[in-house]
Amino acid sequence: MSDSTRLRIAIQKSGRLSDDSIALLKAIGIKLQIRDRLLIAHSTNEPIDLLRVRDDDIPGLVMDGVVDLGFIGENELEEKMLERQAAKKQAAFNTLRRLDYGGCRLSIAVPNEMAYENIKSLEGKKVATTYPFLLERFFAQKNVNAQAVMLTGSVEVAPRAGVADAICDLVSTGATLEANGLCEEDVVFNSKAVLIQKADALSDEKQALVSRLLPRIDGVIQAKE
Ligand code: PRP
Ligand code: ZN
Ligand code: MG
Repeated sequence: MSDSTRLRIAIQKSGRLSDDSIALLKAIGIKLQIRDRLLIAHSTNEPIDLLRVRDDDIPGLVMDGVVDLGFIGENELEEKMLERQAAKKQAAFNTLRRLDYGGCRLSIAVPNEMAYENIKSLEGKKVATTYPFLLERFFAQKNVNAQAVMLTGSVEVAPRAGVADAICDLVSTGATLEANGLCEEDVVFNSKAVLIQKADALSDEKQALVSRLLPRIDGVIQAKE
């Protein structure tokens, strides 16, 4: 069960960050028993519990102080921060470390047959994305009047489905764009995984544990360089 004296860390249950985040925790000596169906995983050698959730939920869990730490992509974090600021909700947290995995970029891509010169080519167009706040901020910075259309999945098929003219989605290898006849045009946001901590102070015991873990994380990252 949940025990408030144990450090609670939110981690993506499955997806681009989960394996690397678990590998990092194991590399710094945290023994974990992860059962696929279970939301919570207890460490057997440290007072640490992992909460395994959807990555979209992690920034909010940290900002609401429901968990102490979270491993999250900067793209999700920044999007959720903008969303919460717009809703006048608490959006504070501390970034402990920028990590060496989870690299990807949020990019605008258009159908191969579409004429595209620069971002102004999207004037008056619809752009499907899971990151409307990041995209709208980019449009505002570039003085472009285009409409972000929110889709939580299958963004890459939106142009073919006639739902949008272009997309703004995460790209890492580019295989998804290629497979869908889309061409990457502009980078909106560059992202890596980060480790964040809630804004409110931790208990002395928990803070001491975090302070012991961080140098080990630095050591693992340096050893890979
Ligand atoms: C992202 C994005 C693309 C894919 C791009 O999805 O939505 O589908 O990754 O990666 P690629 O350039 O290597 O092909 P993600 O895997 O994060 O999962 P989701 O779409 O289910 O959220
Ligand atoms: Zn339990
Ligand atoms: Mg996808």
